[in-house]
Amino acid sequence: MTVSSPWRATVLTLFPEMFPGPLGVSLAGRALGLGVWSLEARDIRDSATDRHRSVDDTPAGGGPGMVLRADVLAAAIDTAQITPDRPRLLMSPRGRTLTQSRIRELAAGPGPLIVCGRFEGVDQRVIEARALEEVSIGDYVLSGGEIAAMALIDACVRLLPGVMGSAESASEESFSDSLLEYPQYTRPQTFEGRQIPEILTSGDHAKVAAWRRAEAEALTRLRRPDLWAAHEKAPKSTTKE
Ligand code: ADE
Repeated sequence: MTVSSPWRATVLTLFPEMFPGPLGVSLAGRALGLGVWSLEARDIRDSATDRHRSVDDTPAGGGPGMVLRADVLAAAIDTAQITPDRPRLLMSPRGRTLTQSRIRELAAGPGPLIVCGRFEGVDQRVIEARALEEVSIGDYVLSGGEIAAMALIDACVRLLPGVMGSAESASEESFSDSLLEYPQYTRPQTFEGRQIPEILTSGDHAKVAAWRRAEAEALTRLRRPDLWAAHEKAPKSTTKE
């Protein structure tokens, strides 16, 4: 019998000391300690060849900032010896925005190589030559890809088998059915004069499920018309309700 190796993230960065950072605590940190997944943060600068260990240079054509060199980054990718079955990602605000369904795909695979950009960007030629898939975590600009990489890894790791406490919490949460999650309550029964909705303490499971569904739909329609439109277009699931 062959035992499959644990899910693995290989991160190429100019700041390897940022890792594991927040991924070393809580749910992801516990799973890391248990060997459910592994993390390798590699320093791009180790692939620099000149005396000054330089990794960047001024943009061709002029303009502000510095660009990550194609030769240095390509060498860093090549020495990481990533097997062809692993996705090669470049965190970048130019990328396609990450979705829960892409996270599910990434979590189901062997685990990605993730290149963290810095400076004004990365030389286009290495993106093409090493077939990097550009991935964004949203329409705003971070000072580098590291925090974006952490967000991606965290979202994957919590889906790995055995990481989340209850198997149900992953299927109930926001986006699993392209809806935002319904509101949650817990004790005390009264908080600053506000009560827990009566239906939730009624013990009627069918009514609770219907209430939650209606709340999730109302919230999604109000806050995320884009998700609501996609939800309405999608074929209706017959197994879930
Ligand atoms: N690097 C800088 N901004 C980013 C973003 N929004 N997503 C992914 N990587 C980034």
